[in-house]
Amino acid sequence: MTPPPAPTMAAHSNAVHGGRRRHVLLFPLPYQGHINPMFRLAGLLHAHGFAITVFHTHFNAPDTARHPDYRFVPVPDGSPVPVAIEDAVAQILELGVACESAFRDRLASVLDEYSRDDVACLVADTHLLPIFEVAARLSVPTLALRTGSAACCASFLAYPMLFEKGYLPVQESQRDMPVVDLPPYRVRDLPVIGEDDGGLVRELLSRAMTAVKTSSGLILNTFDALERREQDGLRRDLAVPVFDIGPLHKLSPAVDSSLLLPDRSCLEWLDAFPPESVLYVSFGSVACMSPRDLVETAWGIAGSDVPFLWVVRPGMVRGSADDHRLPEGFEAAMRKRGMVVAWAPQEEVLRHRAVGGFWTHCGWNSTLESVCEGVPMLCRPYFGDQMGNARYVEHVWRVGLEVGGDLERGRVEAAIRRLMTDEEGAEMRARACELKKAAAECTGEGGSSRLAIDKLITHLTSL
Ligand code: UDX
Repeated sequence: MTPPPAPTMAAHSNAVHGGRRRHVLLFPLPYQGHINPMFRLAGLLHAHGFAITVFHTHFNAPDTARHPDYRFVPVPDGSPVPVAIEDAVAQILELGVACESAFRDRLASVLDEYSRDDVACLVADTHLLPIFEVAARLSVPTLALRTGSAACCASFLAYPMLFEKGYLPVQESQRDMPVVDLPPYRVRDLPVIGEDDGGLVRELLSRAMTAVKTSSGLILNTFDALERREQDGLRRDLAVPVFDIGPLHKLSPAVDSSLLLPDRSCLEWLDAFPPESVLYVSFGSVACMSPRDLVETAWGIAGSDVPFLWVVRPGMVRGSADDHRLPEGFEAAMRKRGMVVAWAPQEEVLRHRAVGGFWTHCGWNSTLESVCEGVPMLCRPYFGDQMGNARYVEHVWRVGLEVGGDLERGRVEAAIRRLMTDEEGAEMRARACELKKAAAECTGEGGSSRLAIDKLITHLTSL
């Protein structure tokens, strides 16, 4: 792996004030897909000389022992429990509110302890508006971290317009209709969750955009070559500076912020396979499938004859209290060419030479991680930004194809073959390799993301 770029002396001196390191305070949203980029950002800022203080909820709390250089400040959160995705929006809204007063007390005591001038700013996840409001009341400048794509952020900004023009709530008859005001999206690519008619999701997104607009800048985990047009649009529509400093996992020192323990034995298992022969299958940290879909997926993978590594996460199958319900005999029958794990070291898996395709739910981190390793994708989006990400993978970057409609083993088999063994898949892989090169250029010396990081560091100094 290419080591992360070393910060310049000038960058280091920006992080020092009166001979002391300046502090950046961070508050991640406590879900895996949001925690990972926030900890990558922490690593980046730390490498540039800033001291890091992480405020965190008890829910999905980080393992502080893995980050000995950071200070951690727990914030009571009303003890939420894991919920179904349909209820996660309400949970996120409640979480911010539940943390608000305790965060105010803890932030005030941290500010008493550090010299006020030594605190550069607070970076919080856009979904934590009450945290931004507390910081503003205590005169702490804020930066908003949006962990999804620039295109997704644009769709959040456009949400009121999407209702005014009748694209939302989604009507079954209009699902394939293009959203002319927001190309290349179709109605079915818009960020929605479950059966919500737009009420709670609309509130969540409107609050997220308020957090962005009232902050001193927006940090995006994306890069110029991937989303130049979308970022130009955001820069036009937002009055705050936009820092496209991604892909963060390629620019920041390696960090383990996994909530589940990765099964590293799969890396050795992969060593036995020829280059680009194995399909990696993972649906991220939140998406759930029905027991029927699990069975069709399993037999579809089996029927494709393609070697596979499959993450079947605890709780991934809806309504099953036990870990998973793979069909009887499946694992034994597949032992020679398949491995099932509860959680994988995903970045390393995607980097492994044996991996030739990724069947993904198209969470933004997974999409970026795949793009950066030149791995083409089968897309099966479930909710939120995933449909829009899948649209970009298939239609804009043309590095994958969607497995749409009802999951049925014959269609799964056919889709896997198209990606892994057909000429079409080889063309997608070639385009994915071009994107990998483009990512490497953006993160290399003088690349757009490196320049954006320099701008961010200068911005932090000016706050
Ligand atoms: C959620 C939403 O699903 C997603 O759409 C949104 O963009 C972010 O929040 P999640 O399901 O967690 O994301 O998916 P993703 O964004 O892909 O993040 C998952 C992270 O977990 C990735 O960084 C991935 O490398 C890691 N992971 C996943 C592992 O380390 N091991 C695994 O086995 C699976």
